[in-house]
Amino acid sequence: MFDRAALIAEAKRRQQQDPSFFLSPEDIKQAQQKRARYDWAKVARPNQLTPTSRPWAYWLILAGRGFGKTRTGAEWVRQEAKRHNYVNLIGATADDARDIMIEGESGILAVCPRSERPRYIPSQRKLIWPNGHVSLIFTADEPERLRGKQHEMLWADEVAAWRYRESWDQAKFGLRLGSNPQACLTTTPKPSKLVKEIINDPDTIITRGTTYDNRANLAPSFFSAIISKYEGTRLGRQELNAEVLEDNPGALWNMKQIDALRVLKAPDMKRIVVAIDPAVTSNADSDETGIVVAGKGVDDQYYILGDFSLIATPQGWAKASIKAYYDFKSDRIIAEVNNGGDLVEAVLRQVDPNVSYRKVSASRGKMIRAEPIAALYEQGRVHHVGIHSALEDQMCDWNPMEPGYSPDRLDALVWAITDLSDNHATGLLDFYASQAASQEKSTEKQHHTD
Ligand SMILES: Nc1ncnc2c1ncn2[C@@H]1O[C@H](COP(=O)(O)OP(=O)(O)OP(=O)(O)O)[C@@H](O)[C@H]1O
Ligand SMILES: [Mg+2]
Repeated sequence: MFDRAALIAEAKRRQQQDPSFFLSPEDIKQAQQKRARYDWAKVARPNQLTPTSRPWAYWLILAGRGFGKTRTGAEWVRQEAKRHNYVNLIGATADDARDIMIEGESGILAVCPRSERPRYIPSQRKLIWPNGHVSLIFTADEPERLRGKQHEMLWADEVAAWRYRESWDQAKFGLRLGSNPQACLTTTPKPSKLVKEIINDPDTIITRGTTYDNRANLAPSFFSAIISKYEGTRLGRQELNAEVLEDNPGALWNMKQIDALRVLKAPDMKRIVVAIDPAVTSNADSDETGIVVAGKGVDDQYYILGDFSLIATPQGWAKASIKAYYDFKSDRIIAEVNNGGDLVEAVLRQVDPNVSYRKVSASRGKMIRAEPIAALYEQGRVHHVGIHSALEDQMCDWNPMEPGYSPDRLDALVWAITDLSDNHATGLLDFYASQAASQEKSTEKQHHTD
């Protein structure tokens, strides 16, 4: 809607300050265009508008990368904050809440025209709307902060990437203010237990959409980067078309198994390693560098503690790995060197000469390396601490019989657990070797006495 009165009032104000100021037709056109951009009712596609076909408690927007999920969530909050006192937000992490949901290019501050824009007070983790209503900001990384907090309306972004499913339980308990509390959940779909549970909840209404729906509004670079990464792959059906994929029958892992072994907290660790699977190149379209932190607990079980994989320059991934090394008080960094030879060590040493480092090289094929690790999962000996959704996607999707696609996070995980379990394997080998030796000895004895 073009607010003519506001424009005239603004022109009058500026004329008082500067008598030579006048409103040109170009000014009016620009103001009209700017206004039109904020007019969500006109700009939104039908599958971005609040569903009204039946009552619902949870509106789940399952859509592809770049569909406009965040924009839709932000616009919904803008609309609901006019009528409700507490329209709260939950981001996957504190950074995501701030950088994407609030300050992002399709976040709340960007979608609100100045007259409707809330004041953001990061230190109090809240937004204050012009009408005095408040939005409290939470993160799914801190389920305990959600405990006992109440919401009238709730927007949760990227639910499939939440580290702790307990956050959703807490959020649901708290959704009890007002006469019709509701939550808008925006996410790319993953076959996780939590996403499936929300899909199957009778109080959920689902909207679907694909990356292609929003093509007209996506920067060509975003479009080509995302499309080229996923198009033609199975994961592309999830990331672009927003299908909730069942596990790949040819994959070595499945989500049910990972979910069943998942823990919230790890015990004390005997040994911790950071494993890196470095990308060869580092431009926008290049591969990710897999960086996974894993440990062997005092209970002799293995724990996946963190996934810090990223697309970065060698300096960038070296810094991220070394940060993880110190944050987790790790014993060692290990890196696959097939791709970069001794360069990897040189880059790491440039950032920090003191880290303990060991190179590993892939003399065996990927499948041969991965299978014993998959076997450890089958024995129930590897646990994920929290959810590591991008890594788990790769695990449940990678079919070793299908060449071409190289899952970097999974590779790093395999290196990490191989390193942690190698000692154990040597121990076992030693054990068998000594058993065989003593058996041989006793057979020899037998021969002598015969
Ligand atoms: N209906 C629309 N009209 C115009 N622009 C739109 C519309 N929907 C979304 N956009 C714009 O498209 C871009 C991508 O939207 P947004 O960031 O919300 O996508 P997303 O699905 O959250 O992406 P990601 O998968 O990266 O999280 C933003 O600039 C957003 O403002
Ligand atoms: Mg988004």
